Amino acid sequence: MRKKASAWLALALGVGMALSGCSSSNSSSDHAKQGSQKAGEKLEIFSWWTGAGEEDGLKALIKLFQEKYPDIKVENAAVAGGAGTNAKAVLASRMQGNDPPSTFQVHGGAELNEGWVAAGKMEPLNDLYEKEGWMDKFPKALIDMVSKDGNIYSVPVNIHRGNVLWYNKKVFADNGLQPPKTFDEFFQVADKLKAKGITPLALGDKEPWAATHLFENVLLGTLGTENYKKLWTGELSFNDPQVKQAVETFKKMLGYINEDHSSRNWQDAAQLVAEGKAAMYVMGDWVKGYFVNDLKLKVNQDFGYVPVPNTEGKFMVITDTFGLPKGVKNPDDVKKFLSVLGSVEGQDAFNPLKGSIPARIDADPSKYDEYGKQTMQDFKTAELAPSLAHGSAAPEGFVTKVNQAVNIFVTQKDVKTFIDTLASAAAELKK
Ligand code: GAL
Repeated sequence: MRKKASAWLALALGVGMALSGCSSSNSSSDHAKQGSQKAGEKLEIFSWWTGAGEEDGLKALIKLFQEKYPDIKVENAAVAGGAGTNAKAVLASRMQGNDPPSTFQVHGGAELNEGWVAAGKMEPLNDLYEKEGWMDKFPKALIDMVSKDGNIYSVPVNIHRGNVLWYNKKVFADNGLQPPKTFDEFFQVADKLKAKGITPLALGDKEPWAATHLFENVLLGTLGTENYKKLWTGELSFNDPQVKQAVETFKKMLGYINEDHSSRNWQDAAQLVAEGKAAMYVMGDWVKGYFVNDLKLKVNQDFGYVPVPNTEGKFMVITDTFGLPKGVKNPDDVKKFLSVLGSVEGQDAFNPLKGSIPARIDADPSKYDEYGKQTMQDFKTAELAPSLAHGSAAPEGFVTKVNQAVNIFVTQKDVKTFIDTLASAAAELKK
């Protein structure tokens, strides 16, 4: 995120912090608390990776860590709920109560920098990066996403791609269809599928972020990378006609989804595509982990993937990172865990199972399947765009408001009200 962005997003912190319930007043007392490390303290790893498609990578990483450090007791403190729906609330109250987990999952970008770092809750990790020789092992763009005012605050374990359209190969072949590259093609394909009684597009927005995920991809496909990014720097207004066009396209897409979308989570919606009840699904590539590990589907046989229409050459970046909160009792153990998480071995244990690609540039491509290899390649050349639904583009408070507005829009489909709500949430951020 550029300078101007951080400036107005920093101002927005008040909103974000009020909503996430943390305060920015106690960094010095936290400092005092962080004395020398106590022996036998357990290493509590906090995330939302539990259950189908989510936890395999984490378990592999913890196993690797335990092999290297058998004497450190690990507690996998995961709180269920896609995209941190529940975990983030639990984390906020623990942080507010000065009871941080040893380390926690946080998205690179605004969620980390304008949230926990701006609130004075994180220790800088520059020394760890130097010691491990990481400065040229992670892409600069990624280090920037986990840095604020010259300090680095977390270690990225992965890069997920958000702008993927997953499709059921058999349904497409049986109906003589090609995966759509543009929104026009999407609607042509969708009409044909609908005529055959097949749900064209799966959605599972029981947790509203899943609909925001679809919307942000339509925004990227409609506005292009530069203008999409300008929405988060305040340089482009939500009242811009291009945003209206994106909202209209999003609305039209909602005419092709499964009726029971609001009672399904992201895995339940993915199942519709796996079973051939729905043909397409816009979701991040954690879906690949779910399809392959849990549903035993085969890449490029049972399911295919293309960039979301109009987003070829673009990459919606989602990065899960872990840092060192101030005030933890076992900072040395946390750093040991972060060293393993940031190592080639750690990344190559985690990512092939998670569906993501390694955050490091020197990981071993042979450990990844066709999808992973292709995505590693695409990441090198694509235009990178920060995800809103997954914390990089704007602070948590704003994301919460967008999720609420999208959730209402999915049922009411009132374009004007939706845009007005987005515009006023953004205006509040700028104040
Ligand atoms: C994202 C996260 C991914 C995945 C997904 C679904 O926010 O970055 O790692 O867990 O949520 O829960």
